[in-house]
Amino acid sequence: MKIVISFLTLAIFALALNAAEKNPAIDRAMAGVESAVGKAKVDVTRPVYHFHAPANWMNDPNGPIFFNGYYHMFYQLNPYGDNWGNMHWGHARSRDLVSWEHLPIALWPSKERGEEHCFSGCATTGSDGRAMIIYTSIGQGKRADDYAEQWGAISDGDLLVWGKHPKNPLLTDKLHGDLKVYDWRDPFLFRDGGRDFLVLGGNLNQRKGGQAVVLLYEAENPQLTEWKFRGVLFTHPDAKVVNIECPNFFPLDGHWVLVVSPHGKVEYFTGKFDPVAGKFTAEQRGLIDGSDNYYAPNCLLDPQGRRVMWGWVRGFKSGLGWNGCLTLPRVLGVDSQGQLRERVAPEISKLRGERFELTEFKVVEGSRKIEIQGDTLEIEIELESGTASDFGLKVRSARDGSAAVPIGYDGKSLGVGSARIPFSLRPDEKALTFHVFLDKSVVEVFANDRACVTRVINAKSEDLGVEVFATRGEITVRSLKAWPLRPIW
Ligand code: FRU
Repeated sequence: MKIVISFLTLAIFALALNAAEKNPAIDRAMAGVESAVGKAKVDVTRPVYHFHAPANWMNDPNGPIFFNGYYHMFYQLNPYGDNWGNMHWGHARSRDLVSWEHLPIALWPSKERGEEHCFSGCATTGSDGRAMIIYTSIGQGKRADDYAEQWGAISDGDLLVWGKHPKNPLLTDKLHGDLKVYDWRDPFLFRDGGRDFLVLGGNLNQRKGGQAVVLLYEAENPQLTEWKFRGVLFTHPDAKVVNIECPNFFPLDGHWVLVVSPHGKVEYFTGKFDPVAGKFTAEQRGLIDGSDNYYAPNCLLDPQGRRVMWGWVRGFKSGLGWNGCLTLPRVLGVDSQGQLRERVAPEISKLRGERFELTEFKVVEGSRKIEIQGDTLEIEIELESGTASDFGLKVRSARDGSAAVPIGYDGKSLGVGSARIPFSLRPDEKALTFHVFLDKSVVEVFANDRACVTRVINAKSEDLGVEVFATRGEITVRSLKAWPLRPIW
């Protein structure tokens, strides 16, 4: 009997594989990506140790999940061009969060069923042990802001082959009764007290402002195919916010964290969740990242219990055969004041080459060129504020001083290239530590682990210098460490 079952399982698996090989929509899409790889590869501005699609357009990270020994990353992908459109789900996996293996496209729009786009969503391990995706399906000829359904997909054992769920659509706007929800999309699953919940983003007033919401649903069966609408979990407190995309909602370090993408800088709120009332009460708020080049993050819980988050890096030039990448994986925490902490996953240090180090030195009115150079660097610098009114690092600096990307602090704000956010050292913070990840046209900066700024930069390929600067006064550099980082692709 056992043998019969295993043969049967094999046969079903072979059938599934066959079906996937014969899925003309995926074949066509894969060929589309392949045809742009040559062009994308030769572009010298493309990041080399940040996650990205093989070629063409990518946006949001979707449904990250740890499954059977691998981290899986899905993402919004246009297989047919380096601009937004034709949304599919690209797929890759990694053993260590550092190097990634590209896999066949996971989700494609089922045109025969009237589907136009597979928008963002989440993944989970279902009650039968198989992985399941829940995502937003946009119908042909439908307006994404006014009409969407939430669909499911299920996979084979290795997450390589996906099929649309036979029970689709899993959630429709009928659940809302008389309440009209606009821009209803981007499901995110969470579990609390043995119950399965889903949050979705949207607004209640056609983006007129003041009614940008996160909506709450609860599963009525373990298969996650029947859902009940629990009401509005959260309304954005700022009247100028017109809509919420890609909500993430999870418990962390004794707090509940809500992350929202409000068509601007991505924010977090920490506070309390009342599952009986279906309400989230925010107590603290802040920015996940101080730059609008960062958007639509998604996260997973890994086997070590870490909450790991990636954001989409956007704002690159068009016409290069690629567009978009993800930030490095960031491990999240909440401090005693309810504020979010983000740290690049320590695994990334595997990419380091030979370490360069300087111990204490002063910079007086001006700048000091550092011996290490490059456009793929990790730099950690600890600065003591002295008399200088503005101080920090410059990367991608030109030999003749004509260009550079400054990363500086002026006592009340933090600047990275052209982005600036409010930031002040706390009385208990004696020094300022910048942790910088420079990768060609992307720089990710962490200041004392509590402020992050991701920037898309535009530098000439020959501008590779690193400097420490102090304006109107002096500063002491306690230490500076730097490493060249290796490509992951
Ligand atoms: C966020 C977003 C999501 C949507 C997806 C479409 O960047 O607009 O709301 O699901 O991108 O690609």
